[in-house]
Amino acid sequence: MALKHLHNIEDLRQAAHTYLPRLVWDYFEGGAEDEQCLQRNRAAYAAIELLPNYLVDVSAPDTRTTLFGHTWRSCFGIAPMGLQGFARAGADLMLARAAAARGIPFVLSGAGTASIEAVCAACEHAWFQLYVARDQAVTRDLVRRARDSGVEVLVLTVDAPVHSKRERDLRNGFVPPPRIRWPLLLEMLQHPAWCLDKLRHGLPRFENWAPYAGADASAQAIADYFSRQIPFTQTWQDLAELRHEWPGRLVLKGLLSAADAQRAAAVGVDALILSNHGGRVLDSAPSPLHQLALVRAAVGADMPLMLDSGLRRGSDIVKALALGADFVWIGRPALYGVAAHGQAGAERAIEVLQEELELTLAQIGRPCVSTLASAGELLCGR
Ligand code: FNR
Ligand code: LAC
Repeated sequence: MALKHLHNIEDLRQAAHTYLPRLVWDYFEGGAEDEQCLQRNRAAYAAIELLPNYLVDVSAPDTRTTLFGHTWRSCFGIAPMGLQGFARAGADLMLARAAAARGIPFVLSGAGTASIEAVCAACEHAWFQLYVARDQAVTRDLVRRARDSGVEVLVLTVDAPVHSKRERDLRNGFVPPPRIRWPLLLEMLQHPAWCLDKLRHGLPRFENWAPYAGADASAQAIADYFSRQIPFTQTWQDLAELRHEWPGRLVLKGLLSAADAQRAAAVGVDALILSNHGGRVLDSAPSPLHQLALVRAAVGADMPLMLDSGLRRGSDIVKALALGADFVWIGRPALYGVAAHGQAGAERAIEVLQEELELTLAQIGRPCVSTLASAGELLCGR
C-alpha cells in the first residue's frame, strides 16, 4: 500500500507484519515470557488523559529540543535496535539517513548490522550504543572506534546482563545457535519480497564484530563469536572505568530504579534513558513512565532524563514530557517503517509521530514543547 495511505504506526506495523516472515517478525515484535511488560508499556500511556486548552495561538508549533549542545528538530529519536538487517538489507543505514533527513537522533545498536564507521559517514551526529564484551580488549576497541569515527554520545545499555527468555524465539529456534524448523523456512516463501532481498544481499552480519571474529569470518562465524562475547556481566566499577575512558557524553540506558539512577549520577553519567528494553528483558519490569517521577526526585532537576518503551502516538510523547521526561525514544515504530518501506517508511514513521505530536500540542494549547516540562496540570488519569 502507498505510504500516504499508512496513517499511523499501527498501519506501518501491519505492513511490516505482511512483509516479514514469522521468524523475523516474532523477534522484532516479541517480548519476554508472558509479554505482560509489553502490554503494560502501552497501558501506561492509555491510562493518561490530556486536558485540552483553547483560545491560545497555536499557529507556530515548535518541537525543537537541545541535547548536549545540539538542537534537534523534535523531542524524539530512534532507539538502538540489533539485527535490523533482518528487516531488510541496509536497514541500519536507512534508519540513520531517515533520522538525519528529519533532524532527529539515531542510535546505532551494539548488535547492529552496519559498522560504526559506515553509519557515521552516512549520518552526522550519530550516537553509538555499547554492549560490553567478555573480551575487554574488544570493548576498548569498540570505544576507540566510536571516538575515532566522531561519535559524540555513547549509550551504555545495562539491562541485558543475561539472555532474556523470549519464548517466541525459543519456539522458532531463533536463538544461538539457530535451529530453525522446516515449517518456518517454508513460511518464508510466503514473503517473496523479503526472500528476494536476502537472496540479493545475503544474510546480515554483525559488522562491528567482524574485525574480531577472525579474517574472512562468515556471517554465521561472526554471529557465533558475538554470542560468546555477549551478554557479559558489568558492574558499577566497569561503569566508573568507562566514564574515565570515554571523553564524550555518556548515557546510561535501561535503568528503572531511583537508587540506580542516583548511583549513576554519582559516577558522572551525563543522562539516563529509563527503559525496559521495549518489554524484551524482564517481564515484570515497570513502565518507565511510572518510574519517571521517582527517578527525577532522586537525581534532581539538572540530569537529562529520557525514556522509551511503548510510545506509539504523538500524544504518548506529550504525556512523557508532561510527566518530566526531557526527550523520548522510539524503537519498533521506526523498525516497522523501515521493514515495510525502507528509508521512506522510516521517514513516514517519523512524520506520522511528528504530525500527531504537533496536533496534540495544538489541542492542549502548548505549541512549544519546552513549556511541557513537568506540566502535570495537563494530565488527568483514572
Ligand atoms: C531492541 N532494543 C535494544 N536496545 C539496546 O540497547 N540495544 C539493542 O541492540 C537493542 N535491540 C533491540 C532489537 C529490537 C528488535 C527491539 C524491538 C528493541 C530496545 C530498544 O532500544 C528500545 O529500548 C525499545 O525498542 C523501546 O520500546 P518500543 O518503542 O519498541 O516499544
Ligand atoms: C534485543 C537485543 C539485541 O533486544 O538487545 O534483541
